[in-house]
Amino acid sequence: MRTTVGIIGGGPAGLLLARLLHRAGVDCVVLESRTRQYVQRRQRAGMLEQGTVDALRAADAAARLDTEGLVHDGIELRFERERHHLDFPVLTGGRTVTIYAQTEIVKDLVALQLTDGPPLLFEAEALAVEGPQSGAPVVRFRHEGRERTLACEWVVGCDGSHGAAADAFPAAACRTYRHDYPYSWLGILAEVPPSCDELIYAHHARGFALHSMRPPRFSRLYLQVPNGTGLEDWPDDRIWDELDTRFTVDADWTLRRGPVTAKSVTPMRSLVHEPMRHGRLLLAGDAAHIVPPTGAKGLNLAVSDVRLLAMAFTELHADGSTRLLDGYSDLCLQRVWQATRFSDDMTRMLHAQPDGDAFDHRMQLARLRRITASRHAAAELAANYTGLPLPL
Ligand code: APR
Ligand code: PHB
Repeated sequence: MRTTVGIIGGGPAGLLLARLLHRAGVDCVVLESRTRQYVQRRQRAGMLEQGTVDALRAADAAARLDTEGLVHDGIELRFERERHHLDFPVLTGGRTVTIYAQTEIVKDLVALQLTDGPPLLFEAEALAVEGPQSGAPVVRFRHEGRERTLACEWVVGCDGSHGAAADAFPAAACRTYRHDYPYSWLGILAEVPPSCDELIYAHHARGFALHSMRPPRFSRLYLQVPNGTGLEDWPDDRIWDELDTRFTVDADWTLRRGPVTAKSVTPMRSLVHEPMRHGRLLLAGDAAHIVPPTGAKGLNLAVSDVRLLAMAFTELHADGSTRLLDGYSDLCLQRVWQATRFSDDMTRMLHAQPDGDAFDHRMQLARLRRITASRHAAAELAANYTGLPLPL
């Protein structure tokens, strides 16, 4: 097999890149190691920045998002039994966010690609990228029990946090910055309509809790738990009781309970792989960076990477210029580090520190009070949450 851009990974990054390249007349092939059913069922985040929605619209992949996505005007911060609404349009000059699950984006993009897009091979696992510094890199992959090769002009690794692409960077040519937080998120999907229209970020001495949704019928809820927590210790009733405690407010408010249909524990970590390009191999999305989910930035960063990449390949295709490809890594990393900083600030402000003392707790409350008391501080959070502009 031969193509111009070989894309490893059929998550949101790889699929959106393929769609954008196809529409720009650049040919590509996507190799995805899992089955279609598996990638369409994997539970992930669901908060889209305005720029992410715009990118999906520009790719003509937003038909369902535009009817089923829920536009949100803000979030709620909860602490000391109080509720505080942050009004994003007021704080940012009109920007909003949209709730639409990543699984739905993946379903939409897979359907489009299988109908009229470039080849998308499921159960095609990339084993290695060879010759990234040559003019003709090759992806070795396994498909239907056979080892095969995909000869490319360029390779993009969109293969997530455990992919094969980053392994093709020689150790001397890259560096990985990593931080592991001393807690995890226990996430549930429950078949019950959300308990209110907003995302709620709750600070509590017992730990953080988040109320989100998969409208119209499902609630998505998260609890901070210690690292190493096993699901066997968390029967559904214990989860609901703990959520109730952490969301408690003095005002009249009830958390709706319903059957739990999915449950998982995810460790919280930050990871940045620098640079994001080695010769003719580029990384995008989780393959290059992971953020803790508190700021809901993972999917949005993946989308902004591939928007830049699509522009870069379109420019190359149009007039042979590698200007944007040459600037790709530096441009992306500016945004990546800003999103990492924001996610880290949100994470540290909202989670109970396992080894923290009373002073740390009061510092968190002082930070939260500053946001609710100062328009300037609230606007800074809102600007980051709704998404910083692409660095172009
Ligand atoms: N060969 C082929 N495909 C692979 C390989 C491999 N060796 N390794 C991993 N993959 C596939 C995975 O099965 C997955 O479908 O690459 C895809 C990567 O997709 P994601 O993990 O969803 O990453 P990305 O597309 O960058 O999207 C970022 O995902 O993790 C969340 O918070 C993150 O929401 C953000 C989004
Ligand atoms: C989600 O809906 O899954 C979600 C929303 C906001 C976050 C993290 C996850 O910060």
